[in-house]
Amino acid sequence: MVRLTGKQQHTPGTIRFLLICIGIGLLLIGLIADIFWASSSRFKLSSLSISNNWSPHSSDFPATFPLMFNEPLNSSANQKPKEKHVKEKSKDGRVLSATFADLPAPQLKWEKMAPAPVPRLDGAAIQIKNLLFVFAGYGTIDHVHSHVDIYNFTDNTWGGRFDMPKEMAHSHLGMVTDGRYIYIVTGQYGPQCRGPTAHTFVLDTETKKWSDMPPLPVPRYAPATQLWRGRLHVMGGSKENRHTPGLEHWSLAVKDGKVLETEWRNEIPIPRGGPHRLLVIQCDYVSPTGIFKCFLVCGGSFAYTLMRICFGNNYQT
Ligand SMILES: *[C@@H]1O[C@H](CO)[C@@H](O)[C@H](O)[C@H]1NC(C)=O
Ligand SMILES: *[C@@H]1O[C@H](CO)[C@@H](O)[C@H](O)[C@H]1NC(C)=O
Repeated sequence: MVRLTGKQQHTPGTIRFLLICIGIGLLLIGLIADIFWASSSRFKLSSLSISNNWSPHSSDFPATFPLMFNEPLNSSANQKPKEKHVKEKSKDGRVLSATFADLPAPQLKWEKMAPAPVPRLDGAAIQIKNLLFVFAGYGTIDHVHSHVDIYNFTDNTWGGRFDMPKEMAHSHLGMVTDGRYIYIVTGQYGPQCRGPTAHTFVLDTETKKWSDMPPLPVPRYAPATQLWRGRLHVMGGSKENRHTPGLEHWSLAVKDGKVLETEWRNEIPIPRGGPHRLLVIQCDYVSPTGIFKCFLVCGGSFAYTLMRICFGNNYQT
């Protein structure tokens, strides 16, 4: 394509070389200017900063940090007294917001308790008064438990083992209690990485009787589950392929272990789904347009998330 005579080869090469040199030179100048700017502004910041809630007791958080939020850069008139202040605050060389300061805590001691009747991975447990009900779970990767063990906190003993329904999931369960009845929704059925089941049950912990509930519209792994205003809410979890986060949210009217509807109602989907999330009912959220009831969804596998899902006053329960 290009004729390679000596001249033509030489001239574009030289120009390219010069352009590259100029480019590198400009970059270096920019870098050096940036370093100078950064060090001088850090100097100013550190000599001015430290707000009042900065604890003198905590570690080496950069002293420059709070200024960005709390105090405008001001004349060097402020510099002297503030510097003194900083020194006082960090006598022990540690400066951190009081928010992060350690609080004196009681000296708690761990106590060894009665070992569980069986080893368990990924089962579920729920406490009602002085009893801890422990459900299902893996014994080994090839074996899952199909029973419930009960721990009595009053005399620190295990006992009261009873069977689960055959169709109930063995791990990744969604579970919640109203203080007597335990609602158990969907989850993985079987050992290893088997698929999930949509079967859903309620247990009366006083009679140890199980009842069926309508199956979830589709099965899920470890959905967030909560009771609120007479409805059992189920949201998120993983879809049937185990790894796709589910965003769906359903609810079902329940009362004292009885299901009052024939099928699950579709609710507002959650913005980000996934398994193993904690679903908390938050207190009322007051906004200019009314009082809202909100759910707080937090945590989860491989992610830190915190979401709030709010219902207006006109939400029908
Ligand atoms: C800067 O500090 C002076 C006194 O040192 C004060 O009068 C002035 O209001 C401050 N300015 C700002 C923006 O805070
Ligand atoms: C738990 O233990 C206490 C003390 O032994 C006993 O009185 C109570 O009946 C036990 N509860 C159950 C449900 O077994």
